[in-house]
Parts: sequence; structure tokens; C-alpha cells
Amino acid sequence: MIAVIGATGNTGRAAVKELKALGENPLCIVRNPDKAKEVLGADAKTAVAEITDRPALEKALKGCDSVFMVTGHGPQVAEQQIGIMEAAKATGVGYFVKVSGGKAVVKADAESAVFRSHYAVEQHLMKSGLKWTILRPGLFMQNTFTVAPMIKSDSKMVTPFPKDIPLCFIDVRDTGALGARVMRDPGKHAGKIYNFSGAKTTYEEFTKVFSQVLGRSIAYVAATIEQAEAGMRSRNMPDWLVAHLVAVARAAASGAFSEEMTQPIQEIVGRAPLTTKQFVEANKAMFA
Ligand SMILES: NC(=O)c1ccc[n+]([C@@H]2O[C@H](COP(=O)([O-])OP(=O)(O)OC[C@H]3O[C@@H](n4cnc5c(N)ncnc54)[C@H](OP(=O)(O)O)[C@@H]3O)[C@@H](O)[C@H]2O)c1
Repeated sequence: MIAVIGATGNTGRAAVKELKALGENPLCIVRNPDKAKEVLGADAKTAVAEITDRPALEKALKGCDSVFMVTGHGPQVAEQQIGIMEAAKATGVGYFVKVSGGKAVVKADAESAVFRSHYAVEQHLMKSGLKWTILRPGLFMQNTFTVAPMIKSDSKMVTPFPKDIPLCFIDVRDTGALGARVMRDPGKHAGKIYNFSGAKTTYEEFTKVFSQVLGRSIAYVAATIEQAEAGMRSRNMPDWLVAHLVAVARAAASGAFSEEMTQPIQEIVGRAPLTTKQFVEANKAMFA
């Protein structure tokens, strides 16, 4: 049986949907059963466990052969994800798929603690004795959900990314599509790291797509990193998150998210990655 940890999140729910479409009935390990019902449907197979609760996690994982893991941002990512891996090993799981960070930023000496954590988890997984696959997506198109209120009420998108820096986004539905196929065929995918993204674009072009799909003009405003940092601090964002988002903006400015890597989606999912237009169309209600 396949278990999905983080099933109620952006990527996890996409993986569950794809697994179901491929005829699987994955076990969704969730901390909030009401949210699970709402986002995964009343018929989803669920087990309740906080990822920090080792006994609950081991109980939930009993009988599972493989695990797909994606958890949110946070300063405890490494500790939590290594704990999940150890729980999986203890219960006899054989194959483990981890959603990591982007290719150019997951490094031992990365500026962001989130990226350093992904690196530590990747290293741990590769030495764990489990069969593994690592998925390293590009920037999420779904990051624009955070500027949805601004697009809705002020018809503008403000981010700390220069308007013409090439960026390769990915729709999390593609990560789900790739992850589901990888989960079903460990023989083919074990021991591999997939770096993947959609087609190259820029934030200015992405904003034009918003204008086109929404039928009204949305302006792109590139803030400086200093302006963005001051704005985040004025909204009382936690220090670790401000530091992470500043590191992401700096990395983007130096081209860390500019490499187009469409091949894994093309070859394993068997179609082109979803476009920014398809993303805005699918989520129009959120921005309109
Ligand atoms: N944003 C980007 O551009 C980008 C690019 C590449 C990689 N990534 C990586 O992708 C990951 C985020 O993916 P996402 O957006 O799909 O995540 P997400 O939507 O934040 O989902 C996180 C999932 O983990 C669950 N979770 C968190 N803490 C938990 C706990 N203590 N016990 C049980 N469940 C817990 C959440 O449950 P609830 O639903 O109950 O909260 C949710 O299901 C991060 O590792 C990030 O570094 C992000």
C-alpha cells in the first residue's frame, strides 16, 4: 500500500488525485480529519497522525510498502522529515519518495535554513537503506496564491523578483502527476533524482497571462529585496520565513530558478508541463 504524508497540502492532494486516477487507493496520513474530508473527499482512505508523533506515525504506516512525503516549510523540516523516514524504516516500508527543494538551492551551505534542511534530509535518505527517489521541483505557480488578494482588489502583483529574470515555474499538479507515476514503479525510478520545471517565463509574462485570463489589466511591480523584507516584517512574519523568502529572492536574482527542465514531466507523465495559462484558468475564481 502507498502512503501519502502531507496529503492535505498543495502537492500532496495532487499526488493523491493522480494516484486515484491511476487506480490506486493510497492511505492519506493527515493531522486534521475534517480538512482531509474537505480537500480529499469523504471516500479518501485516511489515518490520523501528527508527523512529530512517532508512535502514531508508526501505527498509521503499518502495512504500507511505500511513502510519498511532502511537508510544509518551517525550521523543523529536517528533524520532522528524518523522523518520518525512521518511522517508515521501523515499520517495514521499502520505498520512499521525498519532495525536496529546487536543484540549484538545495546545498549544504545554502543561505536558507529550509534549503539546508532539504539537503540534510536528502543525504539521510540516500544513506537510509530505503529505496528512494527525490523530486526537486521548480518554483511553484501556487506561490501566487499569496498575492491573490492584491490581484483581486488592486489589480497588481508585487514580488521581489526583477520583471525580466527568467524563471521556471511548475504547477504542483505536475509534481503530483510525476510523483504518482514514480510511486507506482520503484523498479524504474529508485535511486534517481528528478529536477523538473515548466517552461521558462518571467514574472512580467506571468502577470500578462493573469491579465489575459482575468480580462482586466494586472500590473507587475518588482519590489526591491529591502522593500519586500520591510513589508514582511511589518506584517509580523516569523524571522525564519522572512530569511527564507529573502534567500529565495536573492537566489532567483542570480539565476537559481532559470534553468528549464521539462524532460521528467514530458517523459514520465507523457505530456508537456502545465502552462501558466492553464494554472490561472484552473484557479481563476481565486484571483477574479
Ligand atoms: N514554494 C515553492 O516554490 C517550492 C518549490 C520547491 C519545493 N518546495 C517545497 O515543497 C514543500 C511544500 O509543499 P506544499 O506547498 O505542497 O506544502 P503544503 O501545502 O504546506 O502542505 C504541507 C502538508 O504537510 C502537512 N503537515 C505539516 N505539518 C504537519 C504535522 N505536524 N503533522 C501532520 N501533517 C503536517 C500539512 O497538513 P495540514 O494541511 O493539516 O496543514 C500539509 O498536508 C516544502 O518542503 C518546500 O520547501 C516549495
